Amino acid sequence: MGKRNNQRYIVSKWAKTKALLPNRSIAKHIPDTRVITRNSLQDMLYQYGMVYVKPDNGTYGNGVMRVERDSGPGGIRYRYQAGTRVRTFNSYEAMYNSIKKLIGKRKYLIQKGIHLLKYNNRRFDLRVMVQQSPSKRWVTTGIIGRVAAKRKVVTNVHNGGTLLPFETLLKGHTGAARRRGLFQGLKRLGLSVAEQMKTRYAGIKELGLDVALDRKLYPWILEVNTAPDPFIFKKLKDKRIYRRIYHYSKAYGRL
Ligand SMILES: Nc1ncnc2c1ncn2[C@@H]1O[C@H](COP(=O)(O)OP(=O)(O)OP(=O)(O)O)[C@@H](O)[C@H]1O
Ligand SMILES: [Mg+2]
Repeated sequence: MGKRNNQRYIVSKWAKTKALLPNRSIAKHIPDTRVITRNSLQDMLYQYGMVYVKPDNGTYGNGVMRVERDSGPGGIRYRYQAGTRVRTFNSYEAMYNSIKKLIGKRKYLIQKGIHLLKYNNRRFDLRVMVQQSPSKRWVTTGIIGRVAAKRKVVTNVHNGGTLLPFETLLKGHTGAARRRGLFQGLKRLGLSVAEQMKTRYAGIKELGLDVALDRKLYPWILEVNTAPDPFIFKKLKDKRIYRRIYHYSKAYGRL
């Protein structure tokens, strides 16, 4: 693995993924991720049926696509969705050429698709905020849910997503004891991700994990942001959460 540096912000999703994979207890929460090529996309679609294709240095969910392969009675069909637009194809080649046109020369990744839990029939995932405290301890300071807009495949607020509390989103999926355990588990996962990232990037001060839950409530780390939006936590009723996030952000000079 590469050497340690003092960068505070890391843009490349691929670089951040590579920093996390050496830690086995974190790696088991990262969906299989590869750089896109004609062959790697075909292989991963065959393996997983549904994958996400995303820019290595994207933000706000822009350029993210959901790609699917279905073998039905009429043969194998391919489809992908970018924004609200869905396109279907009879051949892999035709679909790849169409995707390739959107991608152009940019570096793109493919990730095993996670079937996100739903709330009111919309997909949701979670943002886990981890920050360095003024006394230089790492603390998971907040967890909030992000619900995708209708007919969207991304949950980002900049793409019409809605912020809701963890409790609201998980209530319909499991009981109070399991919810509490999951919440604590996510806080611990946030801390171990921060510890691991620091072994490679000594300058980071805060992280925002995008975490998907599958049907078994297993957490999958979709992405780790090094400049997470602190203001989304204003939406929570418990004002102490945002106040601490703001206070920590100020202390390390982000705000
Ligand atoms: N492997 C995946 N399985 C299911 N959904 C995914 C997957 N990858 C991404 N998504 C959905 O797409 C959204 C955007 O993807 P991602 O967070 O990787 O990029 P981004 O949001 O553009 O980057 P940033 O968070 O830095 O702005 C996720 O929040 C999630 O809703
Ligand atoms: Mg994201």
